[in-house]
Amino acid sequence: MQKTVVNSWNEWDPLKHVIVGRADDCHIPPEEPALDAKVPEDSDMRGQWGRRPQETIDRANELLDNFAAQLEARGVRVDRPTPIDHSLPATTPDFHTESQFGCMPPRDVLLTVGSEILEATMSYRCRWFEYLNYRPLMQQYFNEDPNFRHECAPKPRLTDADYHPDYLSEKIGVEKRLKWTAEKFFVTTEEEPLFDAADVLRFGRDLVVQHGFTTNLKGIEWIRRHFPDHRVHAVNFPGDPYPIHIDATFTPLRPGLILNNPQRRLPEDQRGMFEKNGWEIVDAAQPAHNAPPPLCYSSTWLSMNVLVLDPKTVCVEKSEVYQAEQMDKLGMEVVEVELRDAYAFGGGLHCCTADVYREGTCEDYFP
Ligand code: NVA
Repeated sequence: MQKTVVNSWNEWDPLKHVIVGRADDCHIPPEEPALDAKVPEDSDMRGQWGRRPQETIDRANELLDNFAAQLEARGVRVDRPTPIDHSLPATTPDFHTESQFGCMPPRDVLLTVGSEILEATMSYRCRWFEYLNYRPLMQQYFNEDPNFRHECAPKPRLTDADYHPDYLSEKIGVEKRLKWTAEKFFVTTEEEPLFDAADVLRFGRDLVVQHGFTTNLKGIEWIRRHFPDHRVHAVNFPGDPYPIHIDATFTPLRPGLILNNPQRRLPEDQRGMFEKNGWEIVDAAQPAHNAPPPLCYSSTWLSMNVLVLDPKTVCVEKSEVYQAEQMDKLGMEVVEVELRDAYAFGGGLHCCTADVYREGTCEDYFP
């Protein structure tokens, strides 16, 4: 029987169908320009690459499987990617890198807007082929849903011209990084459109896109032209020395309410659309941890990388007690999910999922 399988317009409507990533065969890729710019200078990941230790892969998979089961128990359909061989090099006529990344996190690759799932360009060479992990699901949705639009953004060439060489020096220092991000001088150039799907937040008719390391202005312009019925807003967060992926920085919980990372506040001159429409932007609670787990790309702010199940219910990582407490005070029912040991594979509860179906239609929240 033919039916609507793909439909999701925002980050909070009741979730009915989602993709949850897998940790199978995940690799720490070799050095490359955009990836290096994101790895903090004191990180334990600097200078090493290869397949992640099997026991960490097994543990992450255990947690991801449990999360999938928790969602299913709440009536959410959960699909999983089919891992490709991530040990294979990624080679095109324009670049070569010795290994790929993994099929975590799907949120970085897949952008669902209404009945469309768009494969992002990606901005790391090691992630160029990552969409292949999701192609079996895309084919399945195409067969099941006559209105599903499977799209992919133009694959970028990712030559050296895509990256500012200034970012490649050994030790830049956080002070200089903060100055550069305040000036919107990022590692990626404007050579061609680049974006990762996790830089985009969906607010019905409005798409809010982070300009930073993984998404450039041409990428944002490409998104604007691709979704002509949407308003597309570029935002940036000067307090973040490693600005990639918006979902540990700016987290909408329901119409009218957004959590903002207190170290990465949205600048005053970018708040207009929210203020005019009575939206509240509140500082997120502090993370429960002082440091990320070993071999992790992300910051401790994965605490606010939550998955909203509906405007009154939110999944929060189990150890993130301050974030859970804040959610409770904000009137949300908290579903605890253990995921910290999977953070190293590319993120938290929002990152490790990609929307397929949320109830609801495209609304205008900023008339
Ligand atoms: N900007 C990020 C990535 C979050 C998914 C961080 O805070 O590490």
